[in-house]
Amino acid sequence: MKAVVYQGPRDVAVTDVPDAKIERPTDVLVKVTTTNICGSDLHMYEGRTSFEKGRTFGHENMGEVVEVGQGVEKVKVGDRVVLPFNISCGFCKNCERGLTNYCLTTQPDPSAAGAAYGFAEMGSYGGGQAELLRVPFGDHNALRLGEDAEEKENDYVMLSDIFPTGYHATEMAGVVPGDSVVIAGAGPVGLMAALSATIKGAAKVMVVDRHPDRLALAEQIGAIAIDDSKTDPVQAVLDETMGLGADRGCECVGYQAHDPQGNEDPAATLNMLINSVRFTGGIGTVGVFVPQDPGAKDDLAKQGKAAVDFGLHWFKGQTMGNGQCPVKKYNRQLRDLIAAGKAKPSWIVSHEISLEQAADAYKNFDSRAEGWTKVVIKPGMSSGEKAS
Ligand SMILES: NC(=O)c1ccc[n+]([C@@H]2O[C@H](COP(=O)([O-])OP(=O)(O)OC[C@H]3O[C@@H](n4cnc5c(N)ncnc54)[C@H](O)[C@@H]3O)[C@@H](O)[C@H]2O)c1
Ligand SMILES: [Zn+2]
Ligand SMILES: [Zn+2]
Repeated sequence: MKAVVYQGPRDVAVTDVPDAKIERPTDVLVKVTTTNICGSDLHMYEGRTSFEKGRTFGHENMGEVVEVGQGVEKVKVGDRVVLPFNISCGFCKNCERGLTNYCLTTQPDPSAAGAAYGFAEMGSYGGGQAELLRVPFGDHNALRLGEDAEEKENDYVMLSDIFPTGYHATEMAGVVPGDSVVIAGAGPVGLMAALSATIKGAAKVMVVDRHPDRLALAEQIGAIAIDDSKTDPVQAVLDETMGLGADRGCECVGYQAHDPQGNEDPAATLNMLINSVRFTGGIGTVGVFVPQDPGAKDDLAKQGKAAVDFGLHWFKGQTMGNGQCPVKKYNRQLRDLIAAGKAKPSWIVSHEISLEQAADAYKNFDSRAEGWTKVVIKPGMSSGEKAS
């Protein structure tokens, strides 16, 4: 089958790899119909993780079930399904508590937890930027979709990661109706946090970034855009909140946060939020941070450390939640909001492409080129078809 294969820093190619197949009785095999490029792929694409050459990317996947293992009871051939990026078992100590983001069964390293498709340090599972995807524990992991699955494909595919992840940021921050919320990052995840905060009834949603095209998407759903290349974002949030600070903050950037000139500082967004969220406020950090970052520019960051304003965070009595999103905790409810027409996460999709066009799309998305907000890959589309 054809797949998007990592060849080294900033180098992917679409090549032939062995077909994904049923390996265990509990597996489901999916023909991938849509698979997204994510900001998380970019940390790997840039060579800033241990992701191995020759592996396939793709953790935001949906498709049609084409084969099921002998032990699969619920999922049937022909079902349209969306797969959480987390691969989990459903029966380990963490899964039983709903923490499918830290499954102990599917992560092969006993000193670690959590697994994902096509992801560094999350097991050796193949990614879905390919024609076929093997889904372990299929009954548990596959979320089935209704008759509108094809019509709303670009909405439902966001259930694999970024919509639940944005929602998780607002959950960890503790967003309730009437809150003011500041979001660091207007990438796909930040925009989903803005959508989630709005769905939850936030009174005011502020999104900080410096890309006008991304900020414009935040404004389309009623958020206030704060361009940190033109204004001090902390002061802008204080001005919007009578000097008190926002009730809640969402970190949707991660360890490669940088200033508008491109100078990286892994503490930049955390400190912006600690300074702009009020005393006793909550912060949800879903942007990825890593325990080691050999590609970082200074020694502290190379060790996965960040100069966080912890004193101020403590002094203000703020709380902070961190980590990967447990997609299964939210995907069913968010699916039903999409089905009811009450959420339309596809408003951020900028490009629909074939697999063959992936290398070019990675380049553009990685450079945050104007207008490249979210790329959805359609493995069934031939490269001759016009991409939008
Ligand atoms: N926790 C999870 O489960 C989970 C799931 C998906 C993605 N992620 C992570 O979320 C993060 C965002 O993903 P994405 O797809 O939106 O990525 P993205 O890289 O497309 O978007 C990040 C945005 O942050 C902006 N930015 C950079 N530095 C900034 C700063 N100092 N202040 C304000 N904005 C700044 C960039 O301009 C960009 O628009 C990534 O780290 C990704 O790995 C985490
Ligand atoms: Zn993702
Ligand atoms: Zn588990």
